[in-house]
Parts: sequence; structure tokens; C-alpha cells
Amino acid sequence: MAVLEILTVPHPLLAKKCRPVEPQEFGPELRRFISDLAETMYAAPGVGLAAPQVGDLRRIIVTDPGNSKKEEDEKGRPTNPRFIAMSNPVIIEASKDKMVYEEGCLSVPEFYTDLMRPRKVHIRWLDEDGKPVQRWFEGYDAIVIQHEMDHLEGTVILDRVSGFKKSRYLQRRQREGRHGQESRM
Ligand code: NI
Repeated sequence: MAVLEILTVPHPLLAKKCRPVEPQEFGPELRRFISDLAETMYAAPGVGLAAPQVGDLRRIIVTDPGNSKKEEDEKGRPTNPRFIAMSNPVIIEASKDKMVYEEGCLSVPEFYTDLMRPRKVHIRWLDEDGKPVQRWFEGYDAIVIQHEMDHLEGTVILDRVSGFKKSRYLQRRQREGRHGQESRM
């Protein structure tokens, strides 16, 4: 197991459309990659992570919406962990009913924005053995999965806000990046 480096915007791989996982890829290598992706998500800590965020352009996401402060007991342990790894996830149906949630992203540090998405989604995916699975997700869990699936299309939350907000954020990042380099010298 290994904690991988998480890429941040404007890294070009975060803007690429990912390719499907092929049937022959299910096996030890994929299993190892998924466990590294999971370890990276838990270490961040985060509630979800998509393969392109660690520079791997395959349609793979891991989620655990239970890995958040809101669902901790007094000792900081998750009260309802619910890890899922999905390869080639597809939304087969989405509710007309929408919800707004303030989203952040490990690849877009220090940026949060309210986004509106369907409240319920019916997802079909392949599990770690390549077996097809499908089920409905609702509320926060549905939001997390939709956010991670955006990454597979090369879309980050910055692409869902106004061009003005996006360029202002990227300029700020660039300035801070330069400061960072200067202080290392
Ligand atoms: Ni993200």
C-alpha cells in the first residue's frame, strides 16, 4: 500500500477524459491500485478520490462519505464507514429533484462552492472483481459520487463556476505558488 501524490489544478491530467477499465485489467495490479487510491483518500483525508487525481487516466473512483468530521464519534472514529470502489461508473437514472451542497476538492485546495446536483442517482459500475453492480444513492453519498465521476470527464468544481471566479482562483494559486518557490530558496 502507498499514499500517492494528489495533483492539483491547473495540472493538465485533471482536464483529460479518462478511458474505461478493460475486462483483462481486473486482477492484482488493479486491486493494488485501488487500495493505494483508497489509502491516499483516507490519508488526505477525503470522502472521495478519482484515479486522474493521482495521474492515472482510467475510469476508477473510490468513495467513503462516512470519512468526514460530521460522522465521527467523540474519539474521532467514523460511525458509519461505507467504502466503495467503482470502475466504469455510469449514471443510469437521476432524480429531477436537486439539492445544493457546498463542495470542495482535494485537487482544488482552499476553494469551496455551492453546487446543485440531482438528489438521487442510480449508478451502474464494476466492482473490484469486474462484476457489474447497480444501486441508488441519495443525498450526500449521491453528491460525492457525482463529484468523483466529474473527474473522469476532466471536470473539476472550478469548471462549474463562473469564468471570473475560476480565473481569480487560478491567479491567486499562481501567486502563492511563486511565493512558495521563493521561500524554498
Ligand atoms: Ni474532487
